[in-house]
Amino acid sequence: MDTVQHVFKGTFIHSTHACAMEVLENYILGTNSAGKILFFEKTQEQLRLAQKWGFDESKIDVLGKNEFFMPGMVDTHIHAPQYSFVGTGMERPLLEWLKHTTFPIEDTYANLETASNVYNSVVKRTLRNGTTTACYFATIHTDASIVLASIADQYGQRAFIGKVCMDSNKAYPQYKESNEESIKETKRFVEVMKKEKYDRVKPIVTPRFAVTCSEKLLNELGTLAEEHQLHIQSHISESPAEIEEVLNLFPGYKNYTDVYDRNKLLTDKTVMAHGCYLSNEELLIFREKGAAISHCPNSNISLCSGHLDVQNILKHKVKLGLGTDVAGGYSTSLLDAIRKAIETSKIIFMEKQKKQKENNTIDTFQKGKMDTNWINSNGKNSIMEMEANHVLSIKEAFRLATLGGSEALSIDHITGNFEVDKEFDALLINPEAIDSPFEVLSDIPKEEMIQRFLYLGDDRNIKAVYVAGRRVVPFLTNA
Ligand code: GUN
Ligand code: ZN
Repeated sequence: MDTVQHVFKGTFIHSTHACAMEVLENYILGTNSAGKILFFEKTQEQLRLAQKWGFDESKIDVLGKNEFFMPGMVDTHIHAPQYSFVGTGMERPLLEWLKHTTFPIEDTYANLETASNVYNSVVKRTLRNGTTTACYFATIHTDASIVLASIADQYGQRAFIGKVCMDSNKAYPQYKESNEESIKETKRFVEVMKKEKYDRVKPIVTPRFAVTCSEKLLNELGTLAEEHQLHIQSHISESPAEIEEVLNLFPGYKNYTDVYDRNKLLTDKTVMAHGCYLSNEELLIFREKGAAISHCPNSNISLCSGHLDVQNILKHKVKLGLGTDVAGGYSTSLLDAIRKAIETSKIIFMEKQKKQKENNTIDTFQKGKMDTNWINSNGKNSIMEMEANHVLSIKEAFRLATLGGSEALSIDHITGNFEVDKEFDALLINPEAIDSPFEVLSDIPKEEMIQRFLYLGDDRNIKAVYVAGRRVVPFLTNA
């Protein structure tokens, strides 16, 4: 029989398919030596559970009154080397930013000391911020990508690592590989990763985006992913100038999605960043193939790329997670992505309202039902309008940052919430941390406190981080 490793008692919040946020007070959760959740039940069951699993009730970890566990957050899109310039250089739009800022810096990662320093910092920073799973882009350099994998493993972060592939770069020609090199080095990277046998760090096939990849390279990478059943990541439909460039480079294709699809890069293990301008027709292909979108709202705003209409993605039942897209996005925290996703959704809502008013075509307007001043009003109609127009709720955004991310990466059978048999990836939240950036002034309902943490909290409130039942923050290592 499984032996119990940890038992926790207190409040837990998580998402399920049926419910965007369940708040479960007075629950008891046990993990086994493999880090999997053995049981998750009401505390009334404690005695029976203790007898069944043979644990000592005096050793249960009891959470503080206002503390709670939530699932670890999943960053479905982050560029590890770009952490070295995060928070700077965002005055240019995407393609110029790549040319003047990103490519010259990524080009320096042939130097393993540079890579090791930055990769140590980004893994530590993201873990501290509650990212238990990160889907990383590295650079074109295989050895540096191997270093990133070993650092993620060393700190206990669950991660996908992508050695970046690009055999064309008109913007900054010295930063690219030949077609043969790109394939050969990707194969070498996958081989090394296989040999290392990391428990929770895996390779991901990473054509940077169609602008810097030949058709031949895309096709060979698609074939490689198929042969080895590998995950795939790239960028799609991020900015108007980028889309124009792709349509010029690939004139024989119907649209941007078709470029990836016909080269076998859209599978149920694919995550594509951005997708701001995908048509409904393209979204249907995503849905059909089981491919996911990583919504990176901070980056979309910071680089003036565009806005993703999250509600439309969800309506099309396309898998969706959140990404920081460091350093196009300036924050390494998924809490920021939650906030920016909601803000983006509200901006889209306001734009739609404005358009409707301009066109004056909506019946409800003429009948005077719609309250356009909802921002200034507390009336019930205003709330109904926001809900009817499906502004992303805090609960839904929470689901995207946790379960949604794990679905986007096709690891939702392993992690994403607190279902029995999944691995225990969790954050212990203390809203009353000594240096907390917000106060809990009175006995407020749990849901309000959770909301306050999601809107105002940060790493100071994250008391501990667990990946597969193992506590990884405070850090395992001082390396
Ligand atoms: N498209 C191709 N490369 C990149 C990158 O590094 N960041 C972002 N945001 N978009 C890209
Ligand atoms: Zn990106």
